[in-house]
Amino acid sequence: MTVQPVTPLVEAVETAMVDALRRALPEAGRTEPLVRRSDRADFQANGALALAKQHGRNPRELGAAVAAAIEAPGLISSAEVSGPGFINLDLTSEAIWAQVAARTDSDLLGLGLPLAGKRIIVDYSGPNVAKEMHVGHLRTTIIGDALARLAEALGATMIRQNHLGDWGTQFGMLIQYLNEHPEAEWHHADDADPTANVAALDRLYKQARNVFDADPDFADRARARVVALQSGDEDTRKVWRDLVEVSAEAFDAMYERLGVSLTAADLAGESTYNHLLDNVVEELVAAGIAVESEGALCVFFDDITGPDGNPVPLLLRKADGGYGYAATDLAAIRYRIRDLKADQILYVVDARQALHFKQVFATARRAGWLTDEVEAVHVPFGTVLGPDGKPFKTRSGGTVRLMSLLDEAIAKASEVIGEKNSDADPADLAALAAATGIGAVKYADLSNNRIKDYAFDTDRMVSLTGDTGVYLQYAHTRLASILRMAGKTNGTVDTAAPMSREERALALHLDAYGTNLAESMTEREPHRLCGYLYMLARTFTRFYEANPVLKAETDEIRKNRLGLVRLTRDTLAHGLNLLGIAAPERM
Ligand code: ARG
Repeated sequence: MTVQPVTPLVEAVETAMVDALRRALPEAGRTEPLVRRSDRADFQANGALALAKQHGRNPRELGAAVAAAIEAPGLISSAEVSGPGFINLDLTSEAIWAQVAARTDSDLLGLGLPLAGKRIIVDYSGPNVAKEMHVGHLRTTIIGDALARLAEALGATMIRQNHLGDWGTQFGMLIQYLNEHPEAEWHHADDADPTANVAALDRLYKQARNVFDADPDFADRARARVVALQSGDEDTRKVWRDLVEVSAEAFDAMYERLGVSLTAADLAGESTYNHLLDNVVEELVAAGIAVESEGALCVFFDDITGPDGNPVPLLLRKADGGYGYAATDLAAIRYRIRDLKADQILYVVDARQALHFKQVFATARRAGWLTDEVEAVHVPFGTVLGPDGKPFKTRSGGTVRLMSLLDEAIAKASEVIGEKNSDADPADLAALAAATGIGAVKYADLSNNRIKDYAFDTDRMVSLTGDTGVYLQYAHTRLASILRMAGKTNGTVDTAAPMSREERALALHLDAYGTNLAESMTEREPHRLCGYLYMLARTFTRFYEANPVLKAETDEIRKNRLGLVRLTRDTLAHGLNLLGIAAPERM
């Protein structure tokens, strides 16, 4: 076993084509071979066509010359010019079987660790203390976790940061309200469902808000409480710590249920940066970046204006001296670059905060914290809509609780799974329903183009057919079952064996896994990985329908097909794990 990467065939073909282009047109210099998978052949190379245009040559003639100049006997078995000057390429079956063998024999599916040595921060989830997680927190939590798992699998040193909303004036209001209403029940027994505590707090918070708006005397007392909290008054801090702790417990319960890899060690809420705010702001004032405006402290930008053409500043400190969300994010980015030594920081946050991050990054760049060596990226995402495609609200118009959505998805999954397993043990069935229900929710979210809105439709997402998590999990169980029935095999692949069309398609798709992961990471788009896995399951189905595995014609063919089945199973399980979705053995 080795962690050396196995070079994907597409790269070997690209190398061969660059050589052929150089031989056919020596004066061309650097060329792009433009190789991709094709329906008509294994690959299609369009580099000669582009080159002919640049050099005023007849494209078909140049194509023919390039095809004739290919020297890759073990790799490319045929090269034919087609259309205006594309070159269709077929590979030898030996090269493809050898690739299957190499991936099967190497650790990590031959992917290697291309991001080794990189320190990547993913800032995600960031729910708010004393508030329940609602449907709005689903995407940041799930997409952020998939990106963190992906970067980790590619070898990066991952630093997860959960930027909890645990600080701010709203806590003065809530704490004051709790102090004045000792009868308000929210702190339940230790063994109670931790999310119930936060649900109660959420209600009390809304009551506090109403009193705050209606009663100016209470509003004054609440403001005084903010000052007490910020100046470190011990009684106030004690209540605040309690709120944070109870909320963090509830968030943990949610992460556990969702199968999200965030832990207590990843908590870095807004309050963590409190002691840095004065210093950060002083640095910005000294550099002339932050300036006074109507009593407040702001950063102005030449190129950032509102719809009315007026500049939109970043507000660091309000006239009353209070720091806000922006100052905290500036302290966070300085800390992440200077102290955590990040090479890359990904902020997986709702698209509606795009302006905020644009301003934070621009400020950090002017301050010299954010240099060209560091990449800070806002990874935005669209909104979760109701099943009808309209804004997602409860019947009474409230925000939809995340827990109740998960309950619903699991109940629906349980029906679908139950129909197939009427005689299964109820406990097994419940565990399976949780794995498929949660997997369905995550897959539905991840498989949609990140930046688009999507409709949350539980009926559709638990379907056994179509582009769903359940379908992929089911495909995994089929693969596992074939391997169970095959029993022990010595696992070797014979590279001299013949190769059917479906074997070829499957093997080539398997070989493109690493390329897909790299793209999913550079674009920060888990939906690309979802698309890959869905195609894998379908390509496998086509293979399996046409190519008997356990009852193959010869022993040699059986062994090679089992090799493909094993690699497909391992690749699917690996990919599902990156998406944070369980890969069950049976269902
Ligand atoms: N708590 C914020 C919210 O609910 C999200 C935090 C995102 N991260 C950040 N560094 N600003 O909108």
